[in-house]
Amino acid sequence: MPARVSAPRVVNIADLRRLAERRLPRVAFDYVDGGAEDERTLRENCRAFEAVTFRPRCAVATETCDLRTTVLGVPLQLPFLLAPIGSTRLFYPLGEVHAARAAGAAGTAYILSTLSGTRLEDVKAAASGPVWYQLYLVGGHDVARAAIARAKSAGFSALVVTIDTPVSGLRERDVRNGVRELASRRLWTMLPYLPQLLARPRWLAGFLADGGLMKFPNVVLPGIGPMPYADVGAALEKSVVAWHDLRWIRDAWQGPIVVKGIHTGDDARRAIDEGADAIVVSNHGGRQLDGVPPTLRVLPEVMAAVGSRIDVLMDGGIRRGSDIVKAMCLGARAVLVGRAYAYGLGAAGEAGVTRAIEILRTDLIRTLKLLGCRSVADLDQSFVDMPADWLKPTPHPALR
Ligand code: FNR
Repeated sequence: MPARVSAPRVVNIADLRRLAERRLPRVAFDYVDGGAEDERTLRENCRAFEAVTFRPRCAVATETCDLRTTVLGVPLQLPFLLAPIGSTRLFYPLGEVHAARAAGAAGTAYILSTLSGTRLEDVKAAASGPVWYQLYLVGGHDVARAAIARAKSAGFSALVVTIDTPVSGLRERDVRNGVRELASRRLWTMLPYLPQLLARPRWLAGFLADGGLMKFPNVVLPGIGPMPYADVGAALEKSVVAWHDLRWIRDAWQGPIVVKGIHTGDDARRAIDEGADAIVVSNHGGRQLDGVPPTLRVLPEVMAAVGSRIDVLMDGGIRRGSDIVKAMCLGARAVLVGRAYAYGLGAAGEAGVTRAIEILRTDLIRTLKLLGCRSVADLDQSFVDMPADWLKPTPHPALR
């Protein structure tokens, strides 16, 4: 492990975040770090873990801890996967390739975003573990069908359909930092925002050597080719996923489908009715609708709605292995981590992602030992206390 991401310099994920802030220009750091509007949901996602406390069983000898789980029937060495994050080449040259490689080396899965800057075939070739493809319908159904066919023939093993993005959330930091202006490629428009890039010459050299502002090679527009970076916001608005879309997506994919962006028990049941094989309780890391509750808070409601009918994953606010343990105690089969590894990527590329995974892995083992629990498979609600009203079922609107 390189010294720049080893202890004592890097002890936890917050340290990787600090290093990422130092290496990246403000516009790139804030893109990963920020959330929508007042960032209430972003903050609450993390804070919710504080409301859940442990009930350890002491004087239990746990020499070894088993972190393995299965998701969609596929065994993983770790109970966390790397979440889809768009535009990771902004953080590090060939960002997706490094993240996928680090995930595979650790024995877990990597989820590639539609809005990534690397060809999905190249990401699959670099990964030694399972890779899933996250689908947005940007460019329309035919463009999405083509990407689905490519992902299928490249060997992606699950399709993750994100349903919480009918429009991009208002990420105010991005507006202030000039994301739109910098993507315009017009020098005069970009000019006021260029000093932040020049203030990070090492990042800038890597970014330019990596080809500068990327295109999206997995969104191939007819007559145009890979979608240019500037079109993202508008393209998302034109690409709403509705429940009925799951039918043609399922027909095109013919494999396991994961619905990401479940906020309520009702939507969880609906996802099952529409044929989902797994769901991700997620609010997009607080980047979409500000004011929705933290995901950990809605996990009990979702578990009560779906029981063990399908695999329930969750994401949002996970910065420590103990957070993963809490989510699993409340019923998650595994979690996705987003910023935790993206900070690592921004701090030091693949070594940073590997370090983030290692931090979470050692946290998990330590937490299980302190809890007196030998395996993540044995985690349940008896290991935690949570606020009493978290279990209160939310009545369906028609019954209120
Ligand atoms: C995301 N997320 C996301 N989700 C998705 O389905 N497709 C995408 O392209 C992206 N892009 C993206 C970019 C950035 C910079 C971030 C931080 C997040 C959401 C992501 O998959 C996941 O739901 C959250 O990151 C989970 O929250 P934490 O772990 O970041 O707190």
